[in-house]
Amino acid sequence: MEKPYILAYGRVSEEALKRLGQDYETVYFTQGENLENERFRDVLKKAEGIVGVELEVNEELLEHAPALKVVSNVAVGYDNLDVKALSGREIAACHTPDVLNDTVADAVFGMILASARRIPEMDRFVKEQKWTGVMPDDKFGVDVHHKKIGIIGMGRIGEAIAKRASLGFDMDVLYHTRSKKEKAEHEYGAVYHELPDLLEQSDFVVLMTPLTPETKGLMGTEEFRKMKADSIFINASRGAVVDEEALVHALKNKEIRGAALDVFQQEPIQPDHPFLTMEQVITLPHLGSATAENENNMSLLAADNALNVLKGKTPAYIINPEIQKGRNEHD
Ligand code: GLV
Repeated sequence: MEKPYILAYGRVSEEALKRLGQDYETVYFTQGENLENERFRDVLKKAEGIVGVELEVNEELLEHAPALKVVSNVAVGYDNLDVKALSGREIAACHTPDVLNDTVADAVFGMILASARRIPEMDRFVKEQKWTGVMPDDKFGVDVHHKKIGIIGMGRIGEAIAKRASLGFDMDVLYHTRSKKEKAEHEYGAVYHELPDLLEQSDFVVLMTPLTPETKGLMGTEEFRKMKADSIFINASRGAVVDEEALVHALKNKEIRGAALDVFQQEPIQPDHPFLTMEQVITLPHLGSATAENENNMSLLAADNALNVLKGKTPAYIINPEIQKGRNEHD
């Protein structure tokens, strides 16, 4: 008998593909493949599961996926999924929180340090043979330790950032999020602030909030204007949470000192984007969770989430648990 199908997409580790392949005909497509590709349409038509990263799953795609039971993101963010449409069809939506917290928090600290100490710029300075004597004082950076860090979106990754900031760098931690976070307050001295206060006081503003209709464009002209002139803005959440034009304007007018950005409204970034010619902006290719170890861990978790749904078990991380009510549970 023919095995049922799983469509793997974008970035799924070899080990996870192997695991999925034990019981499912698993067909892998690279990022960018879509309904225009006949083979993609063919596999989608038979697929009981989709496992992957950044595939836009909307009504149109679901029209072509009559056998689908689960969409399992290799990501914590799920702004690529129309969860309402999935729930309406009783299709489970899964994601991979927790496993990536420390990896992303490390990347954010890398961005903070790189930006404050101008590390990528100084690397170019040396390689371009411009280093002729002592470190020139017009290239000095700013300290990170003992400064104020403001974290917008204090979820599980935010807490891992707060831990590094407080215990490792003696920073004061300010945060803004929907609900108070006892653990971060208690263990890392984090203090809740309304957004305008956080922006006015922080030396480093770290955006970690998920992209939702409420957070879209959260950081705009007014918000950047509130930030200190010597402050640095870090975005490791989603590009669309920021009004990029407003950020370009704030940087050009020296309303803030610099920015380190791992995400953009359009990815890959357009070749003529102003960020690409700004020395005070660090641009990264959405690498937050991308270490060899973590990618495999996330892929395996996503694979297990999908396999559990398909076997009638409860997955570790489901976004729309309400669809499971009334289903027979076998675990
Ligand atoms: C990465 O951006 C993720 O959502 O996991």
